[in-house]
Formats: sequence, C-alpha cells, structure tokens
Amino acid sequence: MDPQESETEMSDRKSKHPNKKALGDLIDALNEDLAREFQAIIAYTVYSNTLSGAQWMNIAGELKLHAAEELQHALIIADQIDYLGGMPTATPKPVKLSKKPEDMLRFDLDNETETIGNYSRRVKQAEALGHYALAEKLRKIIAQEQEHQHDLATALGIDVPRVLAEGA
Ligand SMILES: [Fe+2]
Ligand SMILES: [Fe+2]
Repeated sequence: MDPQESETEMSDRKSKHPNKKALGDLIDALNEDLAREFQAIIAYTVYSNTLSGAQWMNIAGELKLHAAEELQHALIIADQIDYLGGMPTATPKPVKLSKKPEDMLRFDLDNETETIGNYSRRVKQAEALGHYALAEKLRKIIAQEQEHQHDLATALGIDVPRVLAEGA
C-alpha cells in the first residue's frame, strides 16, 4: 500500500471521528486508574494488618477504612469504563512491601499523591468529551483521596505534598 495514501486515509478517519481517539484514550486512562485502585485496596488491606507498634494503632484502623473506600472507587471506575464501552482491567499495579511502618505509609502517601494528579487530569479529559457526570464522580473520588493523603501525612508527621499546579 502507498504509505502516503494510508496517511491521508488515516487523517480522514480522524476528522470524521475526532472524539473516537479521545474516548479510547479516556478508557485506557481509566483502566490505569482502576489498576491503581486495585493496588490501593491490596496495599491498605495488607499494611493495616502488618503495622505493628502502639503508635500505629490509630492509623492501622484508618487504613482499613481507606481499603473499603478504594473498593468503592474501583466499583465506580469499572462501572464507568463499562458504560463508555471499554473492558475493565483485572490487573492491579504492583504493591511494594516493607517491614518498616514508615515505609508502608510513605508508599501509600506517594500513591495517593500520584492518584490525585491522575484523577485531576481525568476530570479534564472527561469534560472535554462532554462526560460531565463522570467528571462529577471523579471529583468526589478526588475529595476522598485527598482525605487519605491527609491521614497518611499526619501519621508520618509531615506536610501534605502538593499535587499539581493545574488543580482539579
Ligand atoms: Fe481510590
Ligand atoms: Fe486513596
């Protein structure tokens, strides 16, 4: 096939379906978000049961609540992927393990910070495609992730990390 011809066909196809590529990108990105939610469910479930020491008792209880909230997020994201015509992933992002409580809390904190940045970008992607209800659901999830981030930073005795200048 003439490569120039196929390029023309490709740009023609894009101009006829300008949103198709953007929708595919949104579904792929939501699947990355879902893989991160699965990672969070696993991490919080394991860490909340491996944090030992009297000073970590409170945060261990908080982590169990986080695990339940991450499951709610995963259910919402999987439902939205299905609604958009995608197939929800079944694979979590890898979970790091450590014997040190500070390390575990730091892994969680870093993941929450990354998650908030990703969902902030997702809100913009969803709104650009006119999926305002999805954007609204994502904003509610972001508010909970910010609470998780705050709980972890407090337990570690540090300031809440800044996420993105672009905001949500
Ligand atoms: Fe979450
Ligand atoms: Fe979270």
